[in-house]
Amino acid sequence: MTFTIRELSRTELASVTPMRRAMIEEIDGIDLDAASPGWHQRWISFFGDLIDRGQAAVWVAQDGRERIGTAAAYLPVTHRSAVLEHPSAYICNVYVAPPWRRRGLATALTTRALQWARKKGCSVARLRTSSMGRPVYERLGFRPSNELELTLAPEDQPRRCSDEAEF
Ligand SMILES: CC(C)(COP(=O)(O)OP(=O)(O)OC[C@H]1O[C@@H](n2cnc3c(N)ncnc32)[C@H](O)[C@@H]1OP(=O)(O)O)[C@@H](O)C(=O)NCCC(=O)NCCS
Repeated sequence: MTFTIRELSRTELASVTPMRRAMIEEIDGIDLDAASPGWHQRWISFFGDLIDRGQAAVWVAQDGRERIGTAAAYLPVTHRSAVLEHPSAYICNVYVAPPWRRRGLATALTTRALQWARKKGCSVARLRTSSMGRPVYERLGFRPSNELELTLAPEDQPRRCSDEAEF
């Protein structure tokens, strides 16, 4: 199979949001449209504004004209990036449509994101993984780090969309 990967401009971002929706539905069993009305426009604004500032990139993998995978990365503002000038990259939204899985697409998309992060001067890339994504990322060298987290939402509150999973 031959596929191409290209970086999207701001005006093309809407073309990959259906894959974002499919991803959350597959991983979390959540319909984003129902759980978070307006998410689509907020997603586009979030990445679009960062793209305008050179602080994010979104890629699409295509087989001909068909969109078969996507990934995104951005440079979060942290005390280390702002004070120490050590930027880091956050990779998210890695998704490959089921018929095209296990052919190296996610590996290629994530590799593209890592190349972008290196060019941006990042010394570390972070992500949260699904169980499906873990072998892909581990093969690329990702390892658990010393980051810890504590869930603060009261246990009796209904779970909000992807609170735990910022894929
Ligand atoms: C996780 C996901 C992105 C992986 O996509 P993918 O394109 O299938 O990933 P890759 O092909 O790069 O690697 C996956 C497997 O294919 C294998 N593979 C890679 N190239 C291959 C090839 N040419 N032939 C056969 N197998 C191959 C890899 O070794 C890996 O094997 P493993 O699962 O046995 O460890 C995809 O399953 C998906 O979209 N899942 C739902 C959303 C999700 O979980 N996203 C990750 C969020 S963190």
